[in-house]
Amino acid sequence: MTGAVSPHVIVKVLDDHSALARAAADEFTRCAREAVAARGQFTVALSGGSTPRTMYEALAGRPYRDTIVWPSVHVFWGDERHVPPGHSDSNFQMAYDAWLSRVPLPPGNIHRVKAEMSDARSVVADYERTLCEFFRLQAGEFPRFDLILLGLGPDGHTASLFPYSHALREASRLVVAPWVDKMSAYRITLTLPVLNAAASVVFLASGPDKAEAVRAVLRGEFEPERLPPQLVRTPSGSVTWCLDRDAARLLEQR
Ligand code: 6PG
Repeated sequence: MTGAVSPHVIVKVLDDHSALARAAADEFTRCAREAVAARGQFTVALSGGSTPRTMYEALAGRPYRDTIVWPSVHVFWGDERHVPPGHSDSNFQMAYDAWLSRVPLPPGNIHRVKAEMSDARSVVADYERTLCEFFRLQAGEFPRFDLILLGLGPDGHTASLFPYSHALREASRLVVAPWVDKMSAYRITLTLPVLNAAASVVFLASGPDKAEAVRAVLRGEFEPERLPPQLVRTPSGSVTWCLDRDAARLLEQR
């Protein structure tokens, strides 16, 4: 089922988690093909968490690994935990093990968040520098990713933009490191102006524990402090939600 909840938001409901992964891999491939044809490269910011793992594993296999022009792909992260590579919580490590280490992507095309640095402010400064240099940004400019993949927490967070966080009001920085009480940890995250500058944003949500958050974001009242994904609106781009039936089950109730 595909439908639009507003002019810029497309909702795709897939039968199950593996169909969701394939649909997301198809979207990734479509965005990559269009970006490489238009600009000779494809820039993507990856989501963390567990949901995208199956999609990443799909991209490492056929047909995707043979259709994507890997030397033209540049991979970044939408957010990262404040842990070193190799840590079980590392979003970089999950994507690397599931996918990036299994395709001919040049190592220089992997632009990870250097979250091994003990001071989260240094991690932020380094990642912002990476973005400014790669996208050749002037002061006040935001990077325009070809694609940003986002997940959804049961509490309604996306990337590491949590409900009621001061990070939701950041209007000039590219990257911030909010302290997340429920995790008792700093997280490093792209800010909303960067998410909203993207050409395409694709949310992935799978499983019954996401159904209420999906319903609230897509069908509920506009409560952006409680539901940060409602602040993800790409004026000149598109927002697509790829859901499995379990995550979408409250959408279809009339
Ligand atoms: C992270 C993610 C986060 C994630 C959601 C959903 O670093 O954890 O960026 O926003 O997408 O928490 O996580 P799951 O896919 O594990 O449910």
